[in-house]
Amino acid sequence: MKVLNFGSLNVDYVYQVDHMVMPGETQSSSGMEIFLGGKGFNQSVALVKAGVPVYHAGLIGEDGTAFVEAAKDYGMHTDFIKKIDGRSGHTIIQVDKNGQNCILLHGGSNRAVTKEFVDSVLEHFEAGDIILLQNEVSEMPYIIDKAYERGMQIFLNPSPYDAYLDACDMSKVSCFFMNEIEGGLISGGETDPDKIIEKVLEKYPDARIVLTLGGDGSIYADKNERHHQEIFKVETVDTTAAGDTFTGYFIAGIINGTPIKETLRMSALAASITVSRPGATPSIPYMEEVQKML
Ligand code: RIB
Repeated sequence: MKVLNFGSLNVDYVYQVDHMVMPGETQSSSGMEIFLGGKGFNQSVALVKAGVPVYHAGLIGEDGTAFVEAAKDYGMHTDFIKKIDGRSGHTIIQVDKNGQNCILLHGGSNRAVTKEFVDSVLEHFEAGDIILLQNEVSEMPYIIDKAYERGMQIFLNPSPYDAYLDACDMSKVSCFFMNEIEGGLISGGETDPDKIIEKVLEKYPDARIVLTLGGDGSIYADKNERHHQEIFKVETVDTTAAGDTFTGYFIAGIINGTPIKETLRMSALAASITVSRPGATPSIPYMEEVQKML
């Protein structure tokens, strides 16, 4: 079974700020760093650091060579990372003194994914293979339909949630990774975590659901079982990529046949380590570190 992550690659411009900039305000940042990120790329890094071989598919611009080099260093399969004219996706991320972030995203090359590119990637995968998706590349409905036609298991992190997702047939998704906001939107407006799960399972009874609740931990649910996991408390330095780490480690647990309760615990611990460090991909821990702490 192969794992394909069809997802974004963004250059993250990260600014340290006192507080998130307000309308009309100009604020000097106290620091600035540039990291390789993007929900897609972060989740691929989390998967490989958790020991899962990953094929990453996505588009970079002329400024994106560093992604291919980093992906190779991490041990990812890079045949489906293609360079095109123009700029890569990028973000402007403010991180405040409490380690909370807010992210302005420009899709760049991520939004140049075409049906032809999707076909050229998916022809290398078959029934039973896993495809992991987020919502930062174009042609999401087509990717889901075609992956489903091939019999692939579709794992979706519906983030950021926007109108592009409304066009996707979510009944084809095997496993959702969502936070309360995304869960609220998919469930048709519920805010209570139990209600979100109830509604999503009502709509998609065969799906697995992983709901992350910030400081309140996370919940796993499917039609047969349900588990809650507390967070591991750490000093928050930067929350960027915490959810991506959780996703990568959770999939690693499933692939390795680790019981769900243990998988949730391992994913929560890995995410807490990410939160305690700055940046996206560099902050994601390796499995060895996570196992030692478990
Ligand atoms: O999930 C964090 C990621 O979201 C950042 O790396 C940024 O690129 C945005 O895609």
